[in-house]
Amino acid sequence: MTPPSLGKDLLGLEKLTAEQIRLVLDTAEPFKEVSERAIKKVPTLRGKTIVNLFFEASTRTRISFEFAQKRLSADTVNISSTGSSVQKGETLVDTARNLEAMRIDMVVMRHPSSGAAKFLAERIRSNVINAGDGQHEHPTQGLLDLLTIRDNFDAIDGLKVCICGDILHSRVARSNIWGLLKLGAEVAVCGPQSLLPRGIEGLGVQVFHRIEQAIEWSDVLNILRLQLERMSAGYIPSLREYYRVFGVTMERLEAAPKDLLILHPGPMNRGVEIDSRVADGPHSVILSQVTNGVAVRMAILYLLAGGEPALAEAAKRTNREGAE
Ligand code: CP
Repeated sequence: MTPPSLGKDLLGLEKLTAEQIRLVLDTAEPFKEVSERAIKKVPTLRGKTIVNLFFEASTRTRISFEFAQKRLSADTVNISSTGSSVQKGETLVDTARNLEAMRIDMVVMRHPSSGAAKFLAERIRSNVINAGDGQHEHPTQGLLDLLTIRDNFDAIDGLKVCICGDILHSRVARSNIWGLLKLGAEVAVCGPQSLLPRGIEGLGVQVFHRIEQAIEWSDVLNILRLQLERMSAGYIPSLREYYRVFGVTMERLEAAPKDLLILHPGPMNRGVEIDSRVADGPHSVILSQVTNGVAVRMAILYLLAGGEPALAEAAKRTNREGAE
């Protein structure tokens, strides 16, 4: 049987099979250990050149990709819209083709327009990794969320996961929904009607309009921030009102029939969608998500560069033996 591969690009989880998603998660496992070493480096991508094109703000994704690349020994260049010729009106494709003329191998791109990663991937020969495109998908966030959930339960199959908050504007919600459903989870969303996309039930998710019901039903809550920068109209009466009705608080969690695992992709609005005591509490895995993000991104870079899953383990072993 042919082993699964990711193909040329990683644009989203919607088009991946369960087998491809498991391939990424399983390949990430041996890479976790690399970040725990005194010398956090393996030679796996030596000689590869990767460009990080970030046309939107990012802390976690941009730095996590950069660490992943450096830990795999790739050469990297970071470009943002400010300070590049995009400011002078150069198009995305012209920018990328000029970079390709300098013989790059991969592009990691965050862009405010939904579909920008696919648009670019169809026009350049380098591998393209979507680091978040508008309101469409954020596949590496979805994958690191899956890895973090898998770390905490025996299996994702049959788990009840509720994504809470601003689903309407969230690329993280979409990637999570696709990934979780493919791995057999039951998925729900919870938020005010104004922040739920019309027809969301059609994706195969349950809808809760009360956070207390979502908490009672779930094994895992993935809490999303209100994306105030994407809201053009009054979607909620006020932040204070949103917290009162939808905020995930200690009091609400203590009333739940079981302990819940708490995820948040960041950045958090403390006191809006999540209480600080929950964010920093015993059931929060928010910083584990960030740690897992590096391993997941190492796995994706490795697989797109043509690496085979079994070789990730072997590369780790060879490198460790060499270091001893
Ligand atoms: N979760 C996430 O995408 O965070 P950044 O916007 O900081 O990259």
